[in-house]
Amino acid sequence: MDYAPILQRIAADIQPLIGKGRVADYIPELGKVRATRFGMALVTVTGETHTIGDADERFSIQSISKLFACTLAFQRLGEELWKRVGREPSGNAFNSLVQLEYEQGIPRNPFINAGALVVTDVLCRNLPGADTALVELLRRLSGNDTIAVDERVARSELEHAARNRAMAYFMKSFERLEVPVERIIDVYSRNCAIAMSCTDLARAALFLANGGVVPHSGERILAPSPTKRLSALMLTCGTYDAAGDFVYRVGLPAKSGVGGGIVAVMPGAWAVCVWSPGLDASGNSLVGVQALEWLTTLTGHSIF
Ligand code: DON
Repeated sequence: MDYAPILQRIAADIQPLIGKGRVADYIPELGKVRATRFGMALVTVTGETHTIGDADERFSIQSISKLFACTLAFQRLGEELWKRVGREPSGNAFNSLVQLEYEQGIPRNPFINAGALVVTDVLCRNLPGADTALVELLRRLSGNDTIAVDERVARSELEHAARNRAMAYFMKSFERLEVPVERIIDVYSRNCAIAMSCTDLARAALFLANGGVVPHSGERILAPSPTKRLSALMLTCGTYDAAGDFVYRVGLPAKSGVGGGIVAVMPGAWAVCVWSPGLDASGNSLVGVQALEWLTTLTGHSIF
């Protein structure tokens, strides 16, 4: 399939929506990004790369880091991971605390903040180099050795982490966390503050479209069954309380972040990342969701 004209058409048709939505500013450093940015990169398992707009501009990956942190935890713990964190959509905002009390401090899934804090606890406990493990994984997956934490975003995030701290201490009160809360908050916040481009992120997610193997290096990240399972979790939980609407419109497993990025995976074929910082009410990129809806419509590719 010729993806280049499809990306061009999406970039043209999306113009009236550019700048709509609200740039996240609860982490002040994120609020400094211009709302009019738009980029998209699609990479195929056969080695093609197609990009449009600001596809090579770095942005804050934010909650997209949760997908790769979960990959590391799943590699280490396998099915044991699900004793610590659930696999159901939360139906609540990504930073909500309410369910935690009813459900004895066990978060619904690894892609909401509470779940990602548990995953970070697992990493801190089980990986000797937990501080740098995610950056190293992302460098290997994307083939880009320059990927790094944006220190200004990391600082900003740490200074405004009251809600995440509250969540972590609340889970600690149920004895659900093993390492000190401040260490978990530090590693979690730095992982969210990693900066990557659409091209980097599409490449990083490509192993999920390729049965768990990184196409460019041949490295196996996950066996086929865990790869399927992680993708299934993206489908049901990757876009928070909007996961139902997202799957209805787009039809692909995906993971979003409040930096405005969304990665999505077409099993057996390609991975895509779209970036535009204006968010909808659920914290997903407003333009990004529309662009992905058009991508699956125009290509005729989705998992359904
Ligand atoms: O912890 C936070 O709130 C942010 N670092 C990440 C949240 C996020 O990206 C949720 N995504 N839509």
